[in-house]
Amino acid sequence: TWSAVPAGPPDPILGITEAFKADKDPRKINLGVGAYRDENGKPYVLNAVKKAEVKMAIAKLDKEYLPITGLANFTQNAAKLAYGSDSVPLNQNAIAVTQSISGTGALRIGGAFLARHYPGHRIIYLPTPTWGNHIPLFKDSGLEVRSYRYFDKKTVGLDFEGLKEDLKNAPEGAVVLLHACAHNPTGVDPTPAQWKELSDVLAEKKLFPFFDMAYQGFASGSTTRDAFAVRHFVSQGHNVALCQSFAKNMGLYGERVGAFSLTTSSEEEKKRVESQLKIIVRPMYSNPPLHGAHIANTILSDPELYQEWESEVKGMADRIISMRERLCELLTNDLQTPGSWGHIKSQIGMFSFTGLQTEQCKALAGKAHIYMTMDGRISMAGLNSSNIEYFAQSVDAAVRG
Ligand code: LMR
Repeated sequence: TWSAVPAGPPDPILGITEAFKADKDPRKINLGVGAYRDENGKPYVLNAVKKAEVKMAIAKLDKEYLPITGLANFTQNAAKLAYGSDSVPLNQNAIAVTQSISGTGALRIGGAFLARHYPGHRIIYLPTPTWGNHIPLFKDSGLEVRSYRYFDKKTVGLDFEGLKEDLKNAPEGAVVLLHACAHNPTGVDPTPAQWKELSDVLAEKKLFPFFDMAYQGFASGSTTRDAFAVRHFVSQGHNVALCQSFAKNMGLYGERVGAFSLTTSSEEEKKRVESQLKIIVRPMYSNPPLHGAHIANTILSDPELYQEWESEVKGMADRIISMRERLCELLTNDLQTPGSWGHIKSQIGMFSFTGLQTEQCKALAGKAHIYMTMDGRISMAGLNSSNIEYFAQSVDAAVRG
């Protein structure tokens, strides 16, 4: 029956974990998937999460089905976290929101909703480069995928002029995917002034902003600062789509906790939109999982846990920042590796887009047992004081060929 089914390639990001696990060398390092590791290279369960789980065990919660759009308190708290408690559409009860299977699930619900109900073009513009999964995800949702310039290899920074030109040339009514903070894979974000300009360009061209916010709190250590772009666009009168993930900022990777929301013009419009979100979700997975949403909601609704969580997010962000500084120093000063490495320090979020070429990435895997995506992206969280020197020396060797 399946004789004509061709074997597919391994996933460019998750496939790396498989290769890493199969490697038996004790020096091996996995810098592929964006998952936080502590100073000992171990996965990190946040104290706020552990305490929330204790509270939940004491409360003896049941295991009933959630409604189709998920745990209502959780989705309200998630929206408050993203849009801010003073958000106009939030206070007018005009944000349609549904729980989702983390960020990917949110993107997929959003893609399906736009394909079905968006009155403009079914075209979505993605930055080049973008998170690899965005492309098949939006294609499979029924949208036409196009690209806009984002990263400038020459300056190793944002190609802001190219970006604006591409968006100005996009057909009126197209959708534009924006990484709200900590752009994946480049770690290069627009400045607040550039976000303001972008908001004007999108308004002028009647383009629809679709935010992917997978790293709120992780970029700068502040959930408020990282929400700047989303809140600014909303304050300028844009209706936005927003995907949230609690994988990174709460370390709830495997719990699959997220939310998808759309700002609307009124409570009545929100109700109609939400009814259609239900119609999309029900035949897809019926209703979302309970446990992770309860954890996130317990943290978001308990002031003490909330505070502890915020300081832990900051702790994770700060450790990543210190690894950036150390790596830049090792390559620039200690090893004097050919090339310039300042971008490792200026990029933000989980990743650094190192500029290493595919051949060098392959050499690092083959010779040094160091795994990263073939575009030269490294997950900074995989580095710690025990492996960073070995990593820098291996990069030095790969660069010198
Ligand atoms: C990543 O880019 O490594 C993360 O977003 C994890 C994933 O699912 O790809």
